[in-house]
Amino acid sequence: MSEPQVVIAPVAQMLEKKIRARTARVGIVGLGYVGLPLAVEFAKAGFHVTGIDVSADKTRRINRGDSYVGDIPSATIGPLADSGKLRATTDFSVVEELDTIIICVPTPLRKTKDPDMSFIVSSCQEIAKHFHPGTLVILESTTYPGTTDEVVLPMLSSNGLKVGEDFFLCFSPERVDPGNPKYQTSNIPKVVGGVTAACTEMGRLFYSQALQSVVPVSSTQVAEMVKLLENTFRMINIGLVNEIALMCSRMGINVWEVIDAAATKPFGFMPFYPGPGLGGHCIPIDPFYLSWKTKQAGIEARFIELAGYINGQMPHFVVDKVQNALNDDGKPVKGSRIHVMGVAYKRDIDDMRESPALDVILLLQKRGARISYSDPHVPVLRLDGKRMEASPEVAAAEADCVVIITDHSAFDYKALVERSALIVDTRNALKKFNSPNIVRL
Ligand SMILES: NC(=O)c1ccc[n+]([C@@H]2O[C@H](COP(=O)([O-])OP(=O)(O)OC[C@H]3O[C@@H](n4cnc5c(N)ncnc54)[C@H](O)[C@@H]3O)[C@@H](O)[C@H]2O)c1
Repeated sequence: MSEPQVVIAPVAQMLEKKIRARTARVGIVGLGYVGLPLAVEFAKAGFHVTGIDVSADKTRRINRGDSYVGDIPSATIGPLADSGKLRATTDFSVVEELDTIIICVPTPLRKTKDPDMSFIVSSCQEIAKHFHPGTLVILESTTYPGTTDEVVLPMLSSNGLKVGEDFFLCFSPERVDPGNPKYQTSNIPKVVGGVTAACTEMGRLFYSQALQSVVPVSSTQVAEMVKLLENTFRMINIGLVNEIALMCSRMGINVWEVIDAAATKPFGFMPFYPGPGLGGHCIPIDPFYLSWKTKQAGIEARFIELAGYINGQMPHFVVDKVQNALNDDGKPVKGSRIHVMGVAYKRDIDDMRESPALDVILLLQKRGARISYSDPHVPVLRLDGKRMEASPEVAAAEADCVVIITDHSAFDYKALVERSALIVDTRNALKKFNSPNIVRL
């Protein structure tokens, strides 16, 4: 079957030419864990990239060639900044010079678990002030289906510009997995869906200059829903395996051994692992964007609510495990010294957003425990307005109980088992060790 033909308006022909020649001026709005790696990929592909961020500290650091994102070494940013391929600013008036703009601003939840659209709205308001014909805009912030058409499109077309003819608008979900050495921005397939077929084609053409594989879909809503399906799939499967862990604990069965054995099935099973609770900017948050939206359509997202409840119970379960382990050792949790190994939300990264370690520490403190922690990626922790400094790993020897929350690969687990009185392991980091002082999740 032949490819569908897309009619290209004159303004599109001009933009297409610039994209193919890599003379298009690229803008990335929001230079965080998503925006900075993307800016680097387009700069490496030969484009002139301008990052726009409200944080003057971040823009200064980029212009100095100083990275603040773990997966991007300063040695990568430095030459790009020196050559002028990558620069950063807080001034949105540069939009006047740009041909393409990718928006990667935060999309958190409000306390009520409603989407917080304020970052998307404020960045689009600033873009709209300097917007001009011949621009491709792509929203990458994770959001509910309908955002691109219902929120972004009206702001960009307010001055009479026609989408698909005068400018092009797409949604493309970001799938970056910080700390993953195998899959990074350049080799993760990129889904893109436009408001019109011409928008999708422009988005596809643009990404294919810098990324290895692009997957066009028929609309912005499909592209928005792809991301929510991916993250809801993970959240619900983690909820299921956490519930299995609770059951196994009650029945005295080693859940880790169960999962490893089940994973030998060569079809129809995919292993997920239990843990101290969900963390990060995506899995605990994104599914609630979907449930918020579907509520408006009269559908209750019951799987999401249930998995959210079970995952939310995990820090309490861990704290009960610690208390029971101490009691079995003849000690009360009140007044005991507890050393937490790892506080980032996942292995080998420095991101603390939504980390379950925060809940576990606060719950233990509420029960009267004295807390210290080690984390090579998080030297300082701020919790409930108080500042804590990381201790060296040897501090575990002084504790009545150690609890492994994040299984960083830099930890010396052999020494930990040898020097600790009691260890509660929520990640199966001590799989290879068999010692009476280990209590597994
Ligand atoms: N971090 C991840 O692993 C990941 C993965 C997939 C998707 N996402 C999604 O990508 C989006 C960005 O996430 P992130 O992790 O990069 O966030 P981040 O907090 O690391 O970065 C966002 C950046 O946007 C800047 N910013 C905030 N408001 C702005 C504005 N009005 N104008 C310009 N800049 C502004 C902030 O200063 C910050 O530098 C979110 O929607 C997130 O859900 C993140």
